Amino acid sequence: IADKPDSQWRGVMLDLARCYHEMEHLYAVADLCWLLKINRLQLHFTDDCAVRFPFISVPKAVSKKHHTKQELAEFAAYCKERGIVIVPEIDAPGHFWAFSKAYPALFGLKPDGLQGAEGNLSSIMRVDSSVFDTLKAMYAEVAEVFPDSPWIHIGGDEVSTSQWSRCPDCKALMEREGMKDVGELQDYFTARMERIVAKYGKRTGVWNEAAKSGSIDKGSLVYGWERAKACREVLDKGYTTVVMPGEYFYFDMRQSQREEGHDWAAIFDVRKTIGFSFEDFTPEQMSRVAGVQASFFSEAYISRREYDYDFLYYQTYPRICALSEVAWRGEGAQWEEFNARLLGA
Ligand code: ACM
Repeated sequence: IADKPDSQWRGVMLDLARCYHEMEHLYAVADLCWLLKINRLQLHFTDDCAVRFPFISVPKAVSKKHHTKQELAEFAAYCKERGIVIVPEIDAPGHFWAFSKAYPALFGLKPDGLQGAEGNLSSIMRVDSSVFDTLKAMYAEVAEVFPDSPWIHIGGDEVSTSQWSRCPDCKALMEREGMKDVGELQDYFTARMERIVAKYGKRTGVWNEAAKSGSIDKGSLVYGWERAKACREVLDKGYTTVVMPGEYFYFDMRQSQREEGHDWAAIFDVRKTIGFSFEDFTPEQMSRVAGVQASFFSEAYISRREYDYDFLYYQTYPRICALSEVAWRGEGAQWEEFNARLLGA
């Protein structure tokens, strides 16, 4: 048999923050990734509604429902045996409402009325040494639990930087450092995070907004989650990029008008995912594509179906089969032929 994957990076992301997943369920997801030759599993541990990594450094922020470090380390070892690398994510400086309730001094800025996905007021971290020291302690714990993960994903998406523009301390910092706008302040924040993550021998993962200016470290791995255009923009800036546009690969999107789930990226089913193509990407851009990934963010069903994993499987399958096909072949397939294979014909 002559066969090999086109994409080195074949990923899936699970949102552990919005929805507590029993360990047993995480093992089932790992088995399914293994079956489909998916080799990266990003764990989104924090978001507005909960912090689910068992931090000793910030105990007040940690949700009552969380896994133990031992459980997580054992799970990572189980994944490793199956060729799956865990990418832990601690999403900062936005998407951190739950953290801000427990440690308001690290935030301290008034929310500006923007709504987070769960309807909470969004809130972002300050940019000062108390925040950097706290995140450093948190990353140290993450690095300890996942020694074999080469990356720590530090988030950086949907940061409400207008809060920074109203903060006197931030303005003073910007003046001292000669920064022209709050975009540069986010770059500064990200650069500090990169230095901390590097201390633990890891590389940084960021969502695509954090790489917009092109000035963060070129060694960072960028996750292009918005449109394919956003992926091409960060590729053009020179970043190795995981391609995961929501309109093809966000499996929390509903599959038809009548179903549950989000629709902000698109309403789409497996036929759309298998139709994904890199044809609009130049060879130069392709040289930096790490691979493809899907996400399952959970806020759309936490309130009704937190423990109903059938819904996750319903949303994920068979779209994940199409993701796997795109990742392995480097392109989608003709629908009729793919569908016949799906149906076992
Ligand atoms: C994201 O969906 N905000 C990464």
